[in-house]
Amino acid sequence: MAKECKVLVTGGAGYIGSHVVLALQERGYSVVILDNLSYGHRDLVESVLRVPLIVGDMQDRSLLQQLFTDQAPGAVMHFAAFTYVGESVQDPAKYYRNNVIGSLNLLDAAYTAGVEHFVFSSTCATYGLPQTLPIPEEHSQVPINPYGAGKLMVERAMLDYAAAYGLETVIFRYFNAAGADPAGRLGEDHNPETHLIPLVLLSALGKLPGVKIFGEDYPTPDGTCIRDYIHVADLAAAHILGLEYLLGGGKSTAFNLGNGQGFSVRQVIDTAAQVSGRIIPTSPAPRRPGDPPILVGSSAKAQSVLGWVPQYPQLEQILEHAWAWHQKRHG
Ligand SMILES: NC(=O)c1ccc[n+]([C@@H]2O[C@H](COP(=O)([O-])OP(=O)(O)OC[C@H]3O[C@@H](n4cnc5c(N)ncnc54)[C@H](O)[C@@H]3O)[C@@H](O)[C@H]2O)c1
Repeated sequence: MAKECKVLVTGGAGYIGSHVVLALQERGYSVVILDNLSYGHRDLVESVLRVPLIVGDMQDRSLLQQLFTDQAPGAVMHFAAFTYVGESVQDPAKYYRNNVIGSLNLLDAAYTAGVEHFVFSSTCATYGLPQTLPIPEEHSQVPINPYGAGKLMVERAMLDYAAAYGLETVIFRYFNAAGADPAGRLGEDHNPETHLIPLVLLSALGKLPGVKIFGEDYPTPDGTCIRDYIHVADLAAAHILGLEYLLGGGKSTAFNLGNGQGFSVRQVIDTAAQVSGRIIPTSPAPRRPGDPPILVGSSAKAQSVLGWVPQYPQLEQILEHAWAWHQKRHG
């Protein structure tokens, strides 16, 4: 059944946004995508999502104003951003301009057009170094790179906009998005790729020479870093719940979205070797500055307030879906 609320999805041609567009469609929402295609994939929008794609940039305020007039969305889901932490350290201006100013432009256009519901992709990088594990939402937010700092600035602006203009916001702080559409229609295809799971699978396919392991002497059971990998289909399901929480009159708040359990770099590589049946060459490399030994989030709040229950928490399932996609896209 078609829902009355049309949803504007910024960054809907990218990895997480495209999976959320699919979930919105399956739930009966009509969708329009805004993406400048700096990293997004037109071919996937045209062949899989088949929704209107407006190719444009959040820096363009008049385009945004026109878009809200023409499309009259009832809600916004905002994924568009640059996402490379290392690059944000090298070129912070690029990140503050795109991720902060771009988001403020979008917020301005949204509240001026009378939109009252906004869902924002934030990140565990807003927390900085963990003081307690698993990390809860009320953990201190002291980001250690411009990418995380920019996301935190936008979080703050959103809460202020909510209080002053009634633009209610759900802020989702993702841990590591991973996996692919279980039906194989979409998946992760970043270029350049910096995320561990695709790097491991591209190595399994022989597209990369192997995987560097940055530090094998951390205080963890096998000496490698532990991270929280959350299946992209579970992220998508949480976004539907977040949107419907707002449509039902929910007030602005932030939720972590993570698996609740961590997996080490070594576990990811070994499980990927099992799932793919391929050998994955590895080489030791020095620790990277700012990499904590363990980063795992608590998603208890999303589970209790939104009723979110991740369907694919096992590393094997995440890797099976990602492997099927990588073979299809890159094999
Ligand atoms: N992938 C993760 O593990 C992860 C973790 C935490 C947070 N996030 C956040 O989730 C969101 C989506 O991440 P992703 O991995 O899908 O990234 P992605 O690069 O695949 O998608 C982002 C999309 O935004 C578009 N875009 C960028 N700047 C734009 C602009 N100025 N105007 C219009 N479009 C623009 C890109 O073309 C791309 O399609 C981002 O906001 C990111 O910061 C991702």
